[in-house]
Amino acid sequence: MNRGEVQKYIEERYPGFKVLGKKTIFCRNSCIFMLDLCQGQIRDKIVVKISRNYQPHEVALEYANLSRFYNSCKDEFVSSPKPLFVDAEKGILAMSHVQGVNLSYMLHEIRPASSQYLSYAADLSGIALARYHALFSRGEGEPLTIDANAREDDINQSLAKSRERMDECNLKTMVTPFFDFTSWNILIKDEKPQNVASKANIRLFLIDFPRLDYVCTPHLDLARFRFGLELIKQFPPAKFFGLNRWEVDSFYDRFLCSYCREMHVTLNQDDLWLIAHARKAYIRRAMDLTRKGRCGWQPKLERMYLQTFSRDWLDQGDIFSKWPRMGRVGEA
Ligand SMILES: Nc1ncnc2c1ncn2[C@@H]1O[C@H](COP(=O)(O)OP(=O)(O)OP(=O)(O)O)[C@@H](O)[C@H]1O
Ligand SMILES: [Mg+2]
Repeated sequence: MNRGEVQKYIEERYPGFKVLGKKTIFCRNSCIFMLDLCQGQIRDKIVVKISRNYQPHEVALEYANLSRFYNSCKDEFVSSPKPLFVDAEKGILAMSHVQGVNLSYMLHEIRPASSQYLSYAADLSGIALARYHALFSRGEGEPLTIDANAREDDINQSLAKSRERMDECNLKTMVTPFFDFTSWNILIKDEKPQNVASKANIRLFLIDFPRLDYVCTPHLDLARFRFGLELIKQFPPAKFFGLNRWEVDSFYDRFLCSYCREMHVTLNQDDLWLIAHARKAYIRRAMDLTRKGRCGWQPKLERMYLQTFSRDWLDQGDIFSKWPRMGRVGEA
């Protein structure tokens, strides 16, 4: 669907409203249209996400998961956009627009934030993931299911090797993993003017809910978040321009402490081993072009870039060689 077609579609869906402002963001898996809906004095901004390469049941599940979170998480710190409607056959999902900033922009230094602000963001990210896991928990005995086909092979192999460890972990619940729990899928909104910097003044919104009904341990999402932070450090602002106003370890520690507090759990060595192992699988997965399918030039460029500039990060021998430092087990 192009912009004109989306406009027509929405005006038919909301009789009496006109679509005025339109902004389009092209993402790898979708096209995001930000639309201003107007009727007289009423002005509402909505987001229409149109998926690429979608299965209708996947779009329907993403919407169902967004709705479940929105309706159940009545929290002063954490929320999600309000779900509006889904047209699964056409791959369309609509939700309210969040006037916030991507956490990834702050970490990339595109919209730099103070270290105190980032600390709050780390705390809230931990709370958000804990809320999500509490809500999307599964029976303790449910078998692991990550994509049965080869697309998530690295993750599957990592989990298969980790089964015995799982019994020894303190973090025992099984969950529907968020799967892409990274700063790219977190929006932060100032509820009050910025000059009153306090945790109470910012709110975190989760976007991009899972569209596959996997069952896994929460460690997978904890590892993905860590991987995402490390990936940001491979981008030019940190790598070439020396902009390193925040550190992966301390940001992640803060996130993990906040998560553990909310989950009422103290991680043990096996928990950290599992996170570290899944993190490594994510690093391998970043290089796997076949998984990304026929996505055009973008994954190829990414791989060339990582191979050229991030060899050290990709070639990590022992899983504990870089993270976590084992002294941290007790702290976590
Ligand atoms: N409700 C919303 N309010 C404001 N911005 C949004 C909203 N939903 C999405 N966005 C913007 O669009 C971007 C992409 O959204 P989303 O992550 O849902 O799509 P995606 O296809 O999964 O993207 P990607 O392939 O990059 O993960 C977000 O990073 C955010 O900047
Ligand atoms: Mg996303």
